[in-house]
Amino acid sequence: MSLRSELRDSMQQCRSNTLTLIQSLDYETFCTQAHPDFSPIGWHVGHLAYTEALWILQRCAGYPPVFPEYHRLFAQDGLPKCDRVGLPAIETVLDYLAAVRSKVLDYLAIAPLEEQERLWKWLIQHESQHAETIAIVLALVGLRTAIGAGGSPLNLPRVGDFELKDAQSRGGMVLIPAGSFVQGSDAIEAQDNERPAHEIYLEDYWIDRHPVTNAEYRSFIEAGGYQNPQWWTKQGWKWLQDDQITHPLYWSSSSKSPILGDLGGISRLNRSDNSPVCGVSWYEADAYARFVGKRLPTEAEWEKAAQFQTMLGEVWQWTATWFESYPNFESYPYPGYSQTYFDQAHRVLKGGSWVTFPWAMRNSFRNWYYPHVREIFSGFRCVSGV
Ligand code: AVJ
Ligand code: FE
Repeated sequence: MSLRSELRDSMQQCRSNTLTLIQSLDYETFCTQAHPDFSPIGWHVGHLAYTEALWILQRCAGYPPVFPEYHRLFAQDGLPKCDRVGLPAIETVLDYLAAVRSKVLDYLAIAPLEEQERLWKWLIQHESQHAETIAIVLALVGLRTAIGAGGSPLNLPRVGDFELKDAQSRGGMVLIPAGSFVQGSDAIEAQDNERPAHEIYLEDYWIDRHPVTNAEYRSFIEAGGYQNPQWWTKQGWKWLQDDQITHPLYWSSSSKSPILGDLGGISRLNRSDNSPVCGVSWYEADAYARFVGKRLPTEAEWEKAAQFQTMLGEVWQWTATWFESYPNFESYPYPGYSQTYFDQAHRVLKGGSWVTFPWAMRNSFRNWYYPHVREIFSGFRCVSGV
């Protein structure tokens, strides 16, 4: 298949996945800011259109700005998140999305792809990431609906199976032998923060075969883990007390079983003891690891281990590593994409969750969030030395 038709297919496939996530949303949900750290779903939809129009229609094709009235609303650096709730009607935003896409596909037919391949591939990954954020907001809205009185459950799509396949070997660890490996990637689809690929030497270490499960994590809760500062960093303990945290976000303490309720696909989150624990902050992951006499892997340890076994697509996994640039980093396509976040305040997550679209899931892919964030599909695995 030619690059041109490969890109067209991927863009359309990715878009149809996005539209599946938001089908049958009501306007209120579309505009709701479910959590201060996350924009409303409708904003993400408009932002996808804006981003394609900016990079493809304006920057590549050189067209004058299309739908300039939406620029301030949907630009990443336009309005603060809390001011993104006054959105046009759903149909209006979807029309904007479709109108931009139709011009983009017309241009794709004649675009000089030798010079633009990286940008088009970046764009597909950009949409993939926003789609996951949409799924996160859906889960947050659903969580509120499940906890609050009455509200009818959303009809969410089933997006994957995330019960660990090999329950027998849970608890098991695998030894990763000392030696060098290549971290990062120079592939055309690699994001700026994954580049350049570089060699790293690591000593032997053991790493969990699977992300920590609900059953394993429950033993931490039941041992009073959330009441005992000895397991927590200073900041973690302060966070837990300030926010009165006593269990992961997607966790039902009343039934002792971490099932979220009847919310379609997202309800499968945490549905069984053998599912990876999900909805934990970096602080919780770090505390659990200390509780079991282990620690979180560095990003390099995680990435090297992933060359020995599949570690993708269950939950995002917290690492001990700050989100920082690799040597000889060059920002792309704009400094605000990664560089702004190289601030020793964000931790790297690896692996992808069951909602992560395939274009944003590979061993070298780096995700990043503040350590207090738990409204994402995040779990972790542990390592220990030899
Ligand atoms: C890497 C998921 C943290 O959503 O803020 C999307 C990805 N950057 N548009 C985010 C991103 C610009 C980013 N995360
Ligand atoms: Fe974006």
